[in-house]
Amino acid sequence: MRTYYIAGNWKMNMTASEARDFAQKLVKKLDGSDVKIMVAPPFTALESVSSIVRGTSIVLGAQNMCHKESGAHTGEVSADMLLDLDVSTVILGHSERRAIYKETDSHINEKVRLALAKGLEVIFCVGETLEERESGKVEDVVLTQVREGLASVEASQLSSLVIAYEPVWAIGTGKTATPEDANAVHKLIRDEMRRSFGDEAADAMIIQYGGSVKPDNAAELMSQSDIDGALVGGASLDVDSFAAIAQFNA
Ligand code: PGA
Repeated sequence: MRTYYIAGNWKMNMTASEARDFAQKLVKKLDGSDVKIMVAPPFTALESVSSIVRGTSIVLGAQNMCHKESGAHTGEVSADMLLDLDVSTVILGHSERRAIYKETDSHINEKVRLALAKGLEVIFCVGETLEERESGKVEDVVLTQVREGLASVEASQLSSLVIAYEPVWAIGTGKTATPEDANAVHKLIRDEMRRSFGDEAADAMIIQYGGSVKPDNAAELMSQSDIDGALVGGASLDVDSFAAIAQFNA
């Protein structure tokens, strides 16, 4: 049985003090939930949120990480720096990193391998653009991202890997894939994991959906056979909305 996993990606929002207040409210609402909950504040708010969620069931995540362990990488943040703040999860390969910061599959793969080797849980994001969908390339694009992004990942590391399917055209736009269309891509990804790592690992794998997940569409998305959670952007910035998504099955 897979446990639902709802993650909040705050993107470039909230100062450290705003994040602290917000995290306090979240803990009141969601500590002890029966689904797994993660929040990913910006780097500058990790320490303040860490102190609030410590000892609760809410897990702390980061939105990115450097592909190298240390050294001359001005402006970057390392895996060890995240671990030092009790970060347990890192989002890698988000479509904004791919599109705006030109992160390639092989660069993302370096990050994924380093994060897993360091013992971090990885939420690895994949998804097609509208143009790619309209030209019938969903399968090709998503499977290439999965294969290249996860190259050389070992079967023993899969329990720390989550995949988030986020169609780029649904992120921050208010458009969502229909639950059936989203589920079809989730199945595609799970079948690819089955081919690479076997039934047991593929069946245990959490595959989140992301892209305009809101309280009013969460339950329907989560009812699909291969959708195991959500990576939530905009709606994670409102305590009540995020809590309502996390409580989709209440
Ligand atoms: P959204 O963002 O919920 O605002 O569409 C999702 C994401 O980018 O992870």
